[in-house]
Amino acid sequence: MIQLYWKCATDQAVGPEHGVTGEDLESVAPKIRAAHEAVMDQVRKGQLGYAALPAQTDYRQKVMALAERYRPNTTDMIVLGIGGSALGNIALHAALNPVTYNLLSDRSRGGPRLFVLDNVAPALVADTLRLLGRRAKTTLINVISKSGETAETASQFMIFREMLRDKIGADFASRIVAITDAQRGTLHDIAANDGFATLPVPDDVGGRFSVLSPVGLFSAAMCGIDIDALLGGAAAMKKRVEAPHWRENPACVLAAIKYLAYTAKGKPIHVMMPYSNRLYGLADWYRQLWAESLGKKLSRDGGEVFAGPTPVKALGATDQHSQVQLYREGPNDKLIVFLEVAKHPRDVRIPDVFADVPGLAYLRGAKLSALLAAEKTATEYAMGVSNRPSVTIKFDKISPESVGEFIYLYEFVTSLCGELLDINAYDQPAVELGKKCTFALMGREGYEDLAAEIKPFVRADKKYLV
Ligand code: PA5
Repeated sequence: MIQLYWKCATDQAVGPEHGVTGEDLESVAPKIRAAHEAVMDQVRKGQLGYAALPAQTDYRQKVMALAERYRPNTTDMIVLGIGGSALGNIALHAALNPVTYNLLSDRSRGGPRLFVLDNVAPALVADTLRLLGRRAKTTLINVISKSGETAETASQFMIFREMLRDKIGADFASRIVAITDAQRGTLHDIAANDGFATLPVPDDVGGRFSVLSPVGLFSAAMCGIDIDALLGGAAAMKKRVEAPHWRENPACVLAAIKYLAYTAKGKPIHVMMPYSNRLYGLADWYRQLWAESLGKKLSRDGGEVFAGPTPVKALGATDQHSQVQLYREGPNDKLIVFLEVAKHPRDVRIPDVFADVPGLAYLRGAKLSALLAAEKTATEYAMGVSNRPSVTIKFDKISPESVGEFIYLYEFVTSLCGELLDINAYDQPAVELGKKCTFALMGREGYEDLAAEIKPFVRADKKYLV
Protein backbone atom coordinates (compact mmCIF):
# COMPACT_ATOMS: atom_id res chain seq x y z
CA MET A 1 0.00 0.00 0.00
CA ILE A 2 1.12 3.58 -0.54
CA GLN A 3 0.34 6.60 1.61
CA LEU A 4 0.91 10.33 1.35
CA TYR A 5 2.67 12.14 4.21
CA TRP A 6 2.45 15.90 3.83
CA LYS A 7 3.46 17.56 7.12
CA CYS A 8 6.72 18.85 5.62
CA ALA A 9 4.76 20.88 3.07
CA THR A 10 2.89 22.83 5.76
CA ASP A 11 3.56 26.16 7.46
CA GLN A 12 4.33 24.24 10.66
CA ALA A 13 7.35 22.68 8.96
CA VAL A 14 8.57 25.39 6.57
CA GLY A 15 6.73 28.58 7.54
CA PRO A 16 3.70 30.28 5.95
CA GLU A 17 5.55 31.84 3.01
CA HIS A 18 6.54 28.47 1.59
CA GLY A 19 4.25 25.96 3.30
CA VAL A 20 0.50 25.53 3.02
CA THR A 21 -1.49 26.99 5.88
CA GLY A 22 -4.91 26.05 7.24
CA GLU A 23 -6.24 29.18 5.52
CA ASP A 24 -4.71 28.16 2.20
CA LEU A 25 -6.44 24.81 2.45
CA GLU A 26 -9.76 26.44 3.38
CA SER A 27 -9.54 28.81 0.45
CA VAL A 28 -8.63 26.12 -2.09
CA ALA A 29 -11.24 23.62 -0.82
CA PRO A 30 -14.09 24.72 -3.15
CA LYS A 31 -11.79 24.48 -6.16
CA ILE A 32 -10.61 21.01 -5.16
CA ARG A 33 -14.16 19.81 -4.62
CA ALA A 34 -15.19 21.22 -8.00
CA ALA A 35 -12.17 19.66 -9.74
CA HIS A 36 -12.88 16.31 -8.11
CA GLU A 37 -16.52 16.47 -9.09
CA ALA A 38 -15.60 17.39 -12.69
CA VAL A 39 -13.14 14.49 -13.01
CA MET A 40 -15.59 12.08 -11.37
CA ASP A 41 -18.26 13.23 -13.81
CA GLN A 42 -15.92 12.32 -16.69
CA VAL A 43 -15.23 8.94 -15.06
CA ARG A 44 -18.94 8.23 -14.63
CA LYS A 45 -19.68 9.20 -18.23
CA GLY A 46 -16.89 6.97 -19.50
CA GLN A 47 -15.00 9.97 -20.91
CA LEU A 48 -11.75 9.26 -19.08
CA GLY A 49 -10.37 6.25 -20.90
CA TYR A 50 -7.56 5.43 -18.46
CA ALA A 51 -10.04 5.17 -15.56
CA ALA A 52 -11.57 2.05 -17.09
CA LEU A 53 -8.26 0.20 -17.40
CA PRO A 54 -7.89 -1.25 -13.86
CA ALA A 55 -11.14 -3.22 -14.24
CA GLN A 56 -10.72 -4.09 -17.93
CA THR A 57 -10.64 -7.88 -18.35
CA ASP A 58 -10.66 -8.16 -22.14
CA TYR A 59 -7.21 -6.55 -22.57
CA ARG A 60 -5.84 -8.58 -19.70
CA GLN A 61 -7.00 -11.82 -21.32
CA LYS A 62 -5.61 -10.91 -24.74
CA VAL A 63 -2.27 -9.92 -23.19
CA MET A 64 -2.01 -13.14 -21.17
CA ALA A 65 -2.95 -15.31 -24.15
CA LEU A 66 -0.17 -13.78 -26.28
CA ALA A 67 2.33 -13.82 -23.43
CA GLU A 68 1.63 -17.52 -22.85
CA ARG A 69 2.15 -18.17 -26.54
CA TYR A 70 5.45 -16.30 -26.75
CA ARG A 71 7.14 -16.78 -23.40
CA PRO A 72 8.26 -20.39 -23.91
CA ASN A 73 9.98 -19.65 -27.24
CA THR A 74 11.43 -16.19 -26.62
CA THR A 75 14.88 -15.51 -25.20
CA ASP A 76 14.95 -11.79 -25.98
CA MET A 77 12.28 -9.16 -26.39
CA ILE A 78 12.78 -5.76 -27.97
CA VAL A 79 10.20 -3.06 -27.38
CA LEU A 80 10.20 -0.37 -30.06
CA GLY A 81 8.32 2.73 -28.96
CA ILE A 82 8.83 6.24 -27.65
CA GLY A 83 7.23 8.54 -25.05
CA GLY A 84 4.01 7.06 -23.75
CA SER A 85 4.71 3.93 -25.78
CA ALA A 86 7.91 3.17 -23.83
CA LEU A 87 8.26 5.01 -20.52
CA GLY A 88 5.64 2.93 -18.69
CA ASN A 89 7.25 -0.31 -19.89
CA ILE A 90 10.65 0.86 -18.64
CA ALA A 91 9.19 1.97 -15.30
CA LEU A 92 7.35 -1.31 -14.62
CA HIS A 93 10.33 -3.42 -15.52
CA ALA A 94 12.78 -1.33 -13.47
CA ALA A 95 10.49 -1.35 -10.42
CA LEU A 96 9.48 -4.98 -10.41
CA ASN A 97 12.46 -6.90 -11.76
CA PRO A 98 16.03 -6.96 -10.44
CA VAL A 99 18.50 -4.50 -11.90
CA THR A 100 20.54 -7.51 -13.06
CA TYR A 101 17.51 -9.09 -14.81
CA ASN A 102 19.06 -9.22 -18.28
CA LEU A 103 22.23 -10.81 -16.92
CA LEU A 104 20.46 -13.66 -15.12
CA SER A 105 20.30 -17.19 -16.53
CA ASP A 106 17.16 -18.12 -18.48
CA ARG A 107 15.91 -20.23 -15.57
CA SER A 108 16.22 -17.62 -12.87
CA ARG A 109 14.83 -14.85 -15.09
CA GLY A 110 11.57 -16.59 -15.92
CA GLY A 111 11.03 -14.46 -19.05
CA PRO A 112 12.99 -13.07 -21.98
CA ARG A 113 15.65 -10.44 -21.63
CA LEU A 114 14.08 -7.06 -22.27
CA PHE A 115 15.45 -4.15 -24.31
CA VAL A 116 13.29 -1.04 -24.63
CA LEU A 117 14.66 1.09 -27.45
CA ASP A 118 13.03 4.47 -26.94
CA ASN A 119 15.39 6.42 -29.18
CA VAL A 120 16.93 6.40 -32.60
CA ALA A 121 20.47 7.06 -31.43
CA PRO A 122 22.32 5.04 -34.08
CA ALA A 123 24.73 3.32 -31.70
CA LEU A 124 21.87 2.19 -29.44
CA VAL A 125 20.11 0.56 -32.36
CA ALA A 126 23.29 -0.81 -33.96
CA ASP A 127 24.54 -2.37 -30.71
CA THR A 128 21.18 -4.06 -30.12
CA LEU A 129 21.01 -5.29 -33.71
CA ARG A 130 24.48 -6.76 -33.43
CA LEU A 131 23.64 -8.54 -30.18
CA LEU A 132 20.26 -9.91 -31.15
CA GLY A 133 20.79 -10.56 -34.84
CA ARG A 134 22.45 -13.80 -33.76
CA ARG A 135 19.34 -14.94 -31.88
CA ALA A 136 16.69 -13.70 -34.30
CA LYS A 137 14.70 -16.96 -34.18
CA THR A 138 13.99 -16.53 -30.49
CA THR A 139 13.79 -12.73 -30.42
CA LEU A 140 10.39 -11.07 -30.25
CA ILE A 141 9.95 -7.56 -31.66
CA ASN A 142 7.16 -5.69 -29.88
CA VAL A 143 6.47 -2.49 -31.82
CA ILE A 144 4.20 -0.03 -30.01
CA SER A 145 2.72 3.03 -31.69
CA LYS A 146 -0.77 4.35 -31.27
CA SER A 147 -0.57 6.57 -34.35
CA GLY A 148 1.50 4.01 -36.21
CA GLU A 149 3.55 6.69 -37.91
CA THR A 150 5.87 8.16 -35.28
CA ALA A 151 9.15 8.58 -37.18
CA GLU A 152 11.40 7.12 -34.45
CA THR A 153 9.34 3.99 -33.92
CA ALA A 154 8.57 3.55 -37.62
CA SER A 155 12.25 3.69 -38.59
CA GLN A 156 13.24 1.23 -35.87
CA PHE A 157 10.43 -1.06 -36.95
CA MET A 158 11.63 -0.99 -40.56
CA ILE A 159 15.16 -1.87 -39.42
CA PHE A 160 14.18 -4.74 -37.11
CA ARG A 161 11.54 -6.14 -39.48
CA GLU A 162 14.20 -6.31 -42.18
CA MET A 163 16.67 -7.93 -39.80
CA LEU A 164 14.09 -10.64 -39.06
CA ARG A 165 13.29 -11.16 -42.76
CA ASP A 166 16.97 -11.46 -43.48
CA LYS A 167 17.68 -13.94 -40.67
CA ILE A 168 14.58 -16.12 -40.60
CA GLY A 169 12.90 -15.58 -43.96
CA ALA A 170 9.20 -16.06 -44.58
CA ASP A 171 8.43 -16.86 -40.94
CA PHE A 172 9.53 -13.38 -39.80
CA ALA A 173 5.99 -12.25 -38.97
CA SER A 174 5.71 -14.85 -36.22
CA ARG A 175 8.38 -12.91 -34.29
CA ILE A 176 6.55 -9.56 -34.27
CA VAL A 177 3.76 -8.31 -32.02
CA ALA A 178 2.35 -4.87 -32.81
CA ILE A 179 0.44 -2.77 -30.28
CA THR A 180 -1.47 -0.12 -32.16
CA ASP A 181 -4.91 1.21 -33.01
CA ALA A 182 -7.32 -1.71 -33.38
CA GLN A 183 -9.16 -0.35 -36.41
CA ARG A 184 -6.92 1.81 -38.53
CA GLY A 185 -3.51 3.35 -39.17
CA THR A 186 -0.30 2.54 -40.99
CA LEU A 187 1.01 0.02 -38.46
CA HIS A 188 -2.41 -1.62 -38.20
CA ASP A 189 -2.47 -2.07 -42.00
CA ILE A 190 1.08 -3.43 -42.17
CA ALA A 191 0.28 -5.89 -39.38
CA ALA A 192 -2.76 -7.12 -41.28
CA ASN A 193 -0.75 -7.44 -44.47
CA ASP A 194 2.28 -9.17 -42.95
CA GLY A 195 0.11 -11.25 -40.64
CA PHE A 196 1.70 -10.57 -37.29
CA ALA A 197 -0.14 -10.61 -33.97
CA THR A 198 -1.58 -7.40 -32.59
CA LEU A 199 -2.88 -5.97 -29.35
CA PRO A 200 -4.95 -2.79 -29.17
CA VAL A 201 -4.05 0.66 -27.85
CA PRO A 202 -7.43 1.84 -26.53
CA ASP A 203 -8.81 4.61 -28.71
CA ASP A 204 -9.69 6.84 -25.78
CA VAL A 205 -6.40 6.51 -23.86
CA GLY A 206 -3.49 8.82 -24.69
CA GLY A 207 0.05 7.42 -24.78
CA ARG A 208 1.14 8.81 -21.41
CA PHE A 209 -1.95 7.33 -19.68
CA SER A 210 -1.63 3.93 -21.38
CA VAL A 211 0.72 1.95 -19.14
CA LEU A 212 -2.13 -0.14 -17.68
CA SER A 213 -3.36 -1.04 -21.18
CA PRO A 214 -1.69 -3.64 -23.44
CA VAL A 215 0.99 -0.98 -24.10
CA GLY A 216 2.58 -1.59 -20.69
CA LEU A 217 1.01 -4.91 -19.75
CA PHE A 218 2.38 -7.10 -22.55
CA SER A 219 6.11 -6.63 -21.92
CA ALA A 220 5.40 -6.79 -18.18
CA ALA A 221 3.58 -10.12 -18.51
CA MET A 222 6.31 -11.46 -20.80
CA CYS A 223 8.91 -10.62 -18.15
CA GLY A 224 7.12 -12.31 -15.28
CA ILE A 225 5.36 -9.35 -13.68
CA ASP A 226 2.02 -10.18 -12.07
CA ILE A 227 -0.26 -7.93 -14.12
CA ASP A 228 -3.35 -8.95 -12.15
CA ALA A 229 -1.73 -7.64 -8.98
CA LEU A 230 -0.68 -4.47 -10.81
CA LEU A 231 -4.22 -3.85 -12.03
CA GLY A 232 -5.54 -4.79 -8.57
CA GLY A 233 -3.36 -2.11 -6.99
CA ALA A 234 -4.62 0.45 -9.51
CA ALA A 235 -8.21 -0.58 -8.79
CA ALA A 236 -7.65 -0.20 -5.04
CA MET A 237 -6.25 3.31 -5.56
CA LYS A 238 -9.12 4.15 -7.91
CA LYS A 239 -11.48 3.48 -5.04
CA ARG A 240 -9.45 5.65 -2.67
CA VAL A 241 -9.21 8.65 -5.02
CA GLU A 242 -12.91 8.53 -5.76
CA ALA A 243 -13.78 9.07 -2.08
CA PRO A 244 -15.78 12.28 -1.72
CA HIS A 245 -14.18 13.78 1.43
CA TRP A 246 -11.23 15.51 -0.13
CA ARG A 247 -9.10 15.83 3.01
CA GLU A 248 -9.09 12.03 3.31
CA ASN A 249 -8.40 11.48 -0.37
CA PRO A 250 -4.67 11.23 -1.26
CA ALA A 251 -5.15 12.49 -4.84
CA CYS A 252 -7.06 15.58 -3.71
CA VAL A 253 -4.58 16.42 -0.94
CA LEU A 254 -1.60 15.96 -3.28
CA ALA A 255 -3.27 18.00 -6.04
CA ALA A 256 -4.11 20.76 -3.53
CA ILE A 257 -0.51 20.95 -2.29
CA LYS A 258 0.90 20.93 -5.81
CA TYR A 259 -1.59 23.55 -6.98
CA LEU A 260 -0.94 25.82 -3.98
CA ALA A 261 2.81 25.36 -4.33
CA TYR A 262 2.59 26.37 -7.98
CA THR A 263 0.09 29.22 -7.78
CA ALA A 264 0.58 30.70 -4.29
CA LYS A 265 3.99 29.70 -2.96
CA GLY A 266 6.29 30.42 -5.89
CA LYS A 267 7.15 26.79 -6.62
CA PRO A 268 7.06 26.24 -10.40
CA ILE A 269 9.42 23.25 -10.19
CA HIS A 270 8.14 19.90 -8.91
CA VAL A 271 10.91 17.40 -8.22
CA MET A 272 10.27 13.69 -7.78
CA MET A 273 13.03 12.06 -5.78
CA PRO A 274 12.72 8.31 -5.14
CA TYR A 275 14.98 6.78 -2.50
CA SER A 276 15.21 3.58 -4.52
CA ASN A 277 16.79 2.91 -7.90
CA ARG A 278 13.88 0.59 -8.61
CA LEU A 279 11.47 3.55 -8.52
CA TYR A 280 13.59 5.90 -10.62
CA GLY A 281 11.82 4.78 -13.82
CA LEU A 282 8.54 5.94 -12.27
CA ALA A 283 10.03 9.41 -11.87
CA ASP A 284 10.81 9.40 -15.60
CA TRP A 285 7.28 8.24 -16.36
CA TYR A 286 5.94 11.04 -14.10
CA ARG A 287 8.02 13.65 -15.96
CA GLN A 288 6.28 12.86 -19.22
CA LEU A 289 2.82 12.56 -17.65
CA TRP A 290 3.18 15.90 -15.91
CA ALA A 291 4.95 17.82 -18.70
CA GLU A 292 2.79 16.77 -21.63
CA SER A 293 -0.46 16.92 -19.68
CA LEU A 294 -0.04 20.21 -17.83
CA GLY A 295 2.37 22.24 -19.99
CA LYS A 296 -0.14 24.23 -22.01
CA LYS A 297 -0.24 27.65 -23.66
CA LEU A 298 -4.03 27.94 -23.75
CA SER A 299 -6.74 27.54 -21.14
CA ARG A 300 -9.85 25.62 -22.09
CA ASP A 301 -11.58 28.81 -23.20
CA GLY A 302 -8.66 29.77 -25.43
CA GLY A 303 -6.93 32.41 -23.26
CA GLU A 304 -3.15 32.42 -23.06
CA VAL A 305 -2.00 30.99 -19.71
CA PHE A 306 1.39 29.32 -20.40
CA ALA A 307 0.67 26.88 -17.55
CA GLY A 308 2.60 23.97 -16.16
CA PRO A 309 4.91 23.19 -13.24
CA THR A 310 8.24 21.83 -14.53
CA PRO A 311 8.76 18.19 -13.51
CA VAL A 312 12.28 17.24 -12.50
CA LYS A 313 13.62 13.87 -11.41
CA ALA A 314 16.32 13.23 -8.85
CA LEU A 315 17.54 10.08 -7.15
CA GLY A 316 18.15 9.65 -3.44
CA ALA A 317 20.75 9.27 -2.07
CA THR A 318 22.78 9.76 -5.28
CA ASP A 319 21.59 13.29 -5.97
CA GLN A 320 22.24 14.43 -2.40
CA HIS A 321 25.77 14.68 -3.76
CA SER A 322 24.67 16.49 -6.90
CA GLN A 323 21.38 18.41 -6.66
CA VAL A 324 20.69 19.04 -2.98
CA GLN A 325 23.11 21.97 -2.70
CA LEU A 326 20.93 23.78 -5.24
CA TYR A 327 17.67 22.56 -3.74
CA ARG A 328 18.59 23.88 -0.27
CA GLU A 329 20.41 27.10 -1.05
CA GLY A 330 19.36 28.04 -4.57
CA PRO A 331 16.04 29.68 -5.42
CA ASN A 332 13.23 28.46 -3.18
CA ASP A 333 11.14 27.50 -6.20
CA LYS A 334 10.72 23.75 -5.78
CA LEU A 335 8.32 21.30 -4.22
CA ILE A 336 10.00 17.95 -3.59
CA VAL A 337 8.04 14.71 -3.73
CA PHE A 338 10.10 11.99 -2.04
CA LEU A 339 9.30 8.33 -2.72
CA GLU A 340 10.21 6.21 0.30
CA VAL A 341 10.15 2.42 0.69
CA ALA A 342 9.63 0.73 4.07
CA LYS A 343 10.69 -2.75 2.98
CA HIS A 344 13.05 -2.96 0.03
CA PRO A 345 12.97 -6.07 -2.22
CA ARG A 346 16.47 -7.02 -1.03
CA ASP A 347 18.70 -5.83 1.78
CA VAL A 348 22.38 -5.93 2.63
CA ARG A 349 24.04 -5.71 6.02
CA ILE A 350 27.29 -3.79 6.34
CA PRO A 351 29.95 -6.12 7.80
CA ASP A 352 31.08 -5.74 11.39
CA VAL A 353 34.55 -4.45 10.53
CA PHE A 354 36.69 -1.36 11.30
CA ALA A 355 35.55 -1.21 14.94
CA ASP A 356 38.68 0.78 15.68
CA VAL A 357 38.24 3.34 12.87
CA PRO A 358 36.27 6.22 14.40
CA GLY A 359 35.08 7.58 11.05
CA LEU A 360 33.54 4.23 9.98
CA ALA A 361 32.66 2.33 13.15
CA TYR A 362 29.11 3.74 13.32
CA LEU A 363 28.23 1.91 10.07
CA ARG A 364 29.13 -1.55 11.38
CA GLY A 365 26.27 -4.03 11.30
CA ALA A 366 23.75 -1.55 9.89
CA LYS A 367 21.49 -2.51 7.01
CA LEU A 368 21.71 -0.48 3.80
CA SER A 369 17.94 0.02 4.04
CA ALA A 370 18.49 1.78 7.39
CA LEU A 371 21.24 3.95 5.93
CA LEU A 372 19.08 4.92 2.95
CA ALA A 373 16.12 5.69 5.25
CA ALA A 374 18.38 7.88 7.40
CA GLU A 375 19.62 9.67 4.28
CA LYS A 376 16.05 10.42 3.22
CA THR A 377 14.99 11.69 6.64
CA ALA A 378 18.16 13.76 6.84
CA THR A 379 17.46 15.37 3.47
CA GLU A 380 13.81 16.00 4.36
CA TYR A 381 14.93 17.64 7.60
CA ALA A 382 17.67 19.67 5.91
CA MET A 383 15.18 20.91 3.34
CA GLY A 384 12.70 21.74 6.07
CA VAL A 385 15.10 23.87 8.11
CA SER A 386 15.83 25.81 4.92
CA ASN A 387 12.07 26.36 4.47
CA ARG A 388 11.93 24.03 1.47
CA PRO A 389 8.62 22.12 1.35
CA SER A 390 8.31 18.43 0.59
CA VAL A 391 5.83 15.58 0.69
CA THR A 392 6.56 11.87 0.88
CA ILE A 393 4.81 9.01 -0.86
CA LYS A 394 5.42 6.02 1.38
CA PHE A 395 5.53 2.55 -0.21
CA ASP A 396 5.13 -0.31 2.28
CA LYS A 397 7.10 -2.37 -0.27
CA ILE A 398 7.81 -2.36 -3.99
CA SER A 399 5.22 -4.75 -5.37
CA PRO A 400 2.95 -4.88 -8.42
CA GLU A 401 0.13 -3.72 -6.13
CA SER A 402 1.94 -0.64 -4.80
CA VAL A 403 3.26 0.30 -8.25
CA GLY A 404 -0.28 -0.02 -9.65
CA GLU A 405 -1.53 2.23 -6.85
CA PHE A 406 1.16 4.82 -7.58
CA ILE A 407 0.40 4.88 -11.30
CA TYR A 408 -3.30 5.40 -10.80
CA LEU A 409 -2.73 7.99 -8.07
CA TYR A 410 -0.54 10.10 -10.33
CA GLU A 411 -2.83 9.78 -13.34
CA PHE A 412 -5.74 10.98 -11.24
CA VAL A 413 -3.71 13.81 -9.67
CA THR A 414 -2.80 14.90 -13.20
CA SER A 415 -6.48 15.00 -14.16
CA LEU A 416 -7.28 17.05 -11.03
CA CYS A 417 -4.44 19.48 -11.75
CA GLY A 418 -5.67 19.83 -15.33
CA GLU A 419 -9.04 20.91 -13.91
CA LEU A 420 -7.46 23.24 -11.35
CA LEU A 421 -5.31 24.89 -14.02
CA ASP A 422 -8.27 24.95 -16.42
CA ILE A 423 -6.32 23.38 -19.26
CA ASN A 424 -6.83 20.31 -21.45
CA ALA A 425 -4.61 17.67 -19.87
CA TYR A 426 -5.13 15.14 -22.64
CA ASP A 427 -3.72 16.73 -25.78
CA GLN A 428 -0.14 17.63 -26.74
CA PRO A 429 -0.35 20.24 -29.52
CA ALA A 430 3.19 21.50 -28.96
CA VAL A 431 4.69 18.07 -29.68
CA GLU A 432 3.07 18.04 -33.12
CA LEU A 433 5.14 20.80 -34.78
CA GLY A 434 8.40 18.99 -33.99
CA LYS A 435 6.95 15.77 -35.46
CA LYS A 436 5.83 17.59 -38.62
CA CYS A 437 9.17 19.39 -39.05
CA THR A 438 10.95 16.03 -38.81
CA PHE A 439 8.72 14.74 -41.62
CA ALA A 440 9.56 17.86 -43.65
CA LEU A 441 13.30 17.61 -43.02
CA MET A 442 13.28 13.91 -43.93
CA GLY A 443 11.44 14.62 -47.21
CA ARG A 444 8.03 13.11 -46.46
CA GLU A 445 5.49 13.70 -49.22
CA GLY A 446 2.94 16.40 -48.39
CA TYR A 447 5.35 18.39 -46.18
CA GLU A 448 7.09 20.36 -48.98
CA ASP A 449 5.65 23.74 -47.91
CA LEU A 450 6.81 23.26 -44.34
CA ALA A 451 10.24 22.19 -45.61
CA ALA A 452 10.46 25.44 -47.61
CA GLU A 453 9.29 27.46 -44.62
CA ILE A 454 11.98 26.12 -42.29
CA LYS A 455 14.80 26.16 -44.86
CA PRO A 456 16.21 29.59 -43.81
CA PHE A 457 16.30 28.41 -40.19
CA VAL A 458 18.04 25.19 -41.07
CA ARG A 459 20.87 26.92 -43.00
CA ALA A 460 23.78 27.21 -40.56
CA ASP A 461 25.15 30.73 -40.08
CA LYS A 462 28.92 30.32 -39.79
CA LYS A 463 29.18 33.62 -37.96
CA TYR A 464 27.93 31.83 -34.87
CA LEU A 465 30.21 28.83 -35.13
CA VAL A 466 33.29 29.01 -32.91
O1 PA5 B 1 1.89 10.54 -24.60
C1 PA5 B 1 1.86 10.70 -25.81
O2 PA5 B 1 0.81 10.87 -26.43
C2 PA5 B 1 3.14 10.67 -26.61
O3 PA5 B 1 4.26 10.63 -25.81
C3 PA5 B 1 3.16 9.44 -27.51
O4 PA5 B 1 3.07 8.30 -26.70
C4 PA5 B 1 4.44 9.38 -28.34
O5 PA5 B 1 4.55 10.54 -29.12
C5 PA5 B 1 4.44 8.16 -29.26
O6 PA5 B 1 3.30 8.18 -30.08
P1 PA5 B 1 2.80 6.88 -30.82
O7 PA5 B 1 2.41 5.87 -29.79
O8 PA5 B 1 1.65 7.33 -31.64
O9 PA5 B 1 3.93 6.38 -31.66
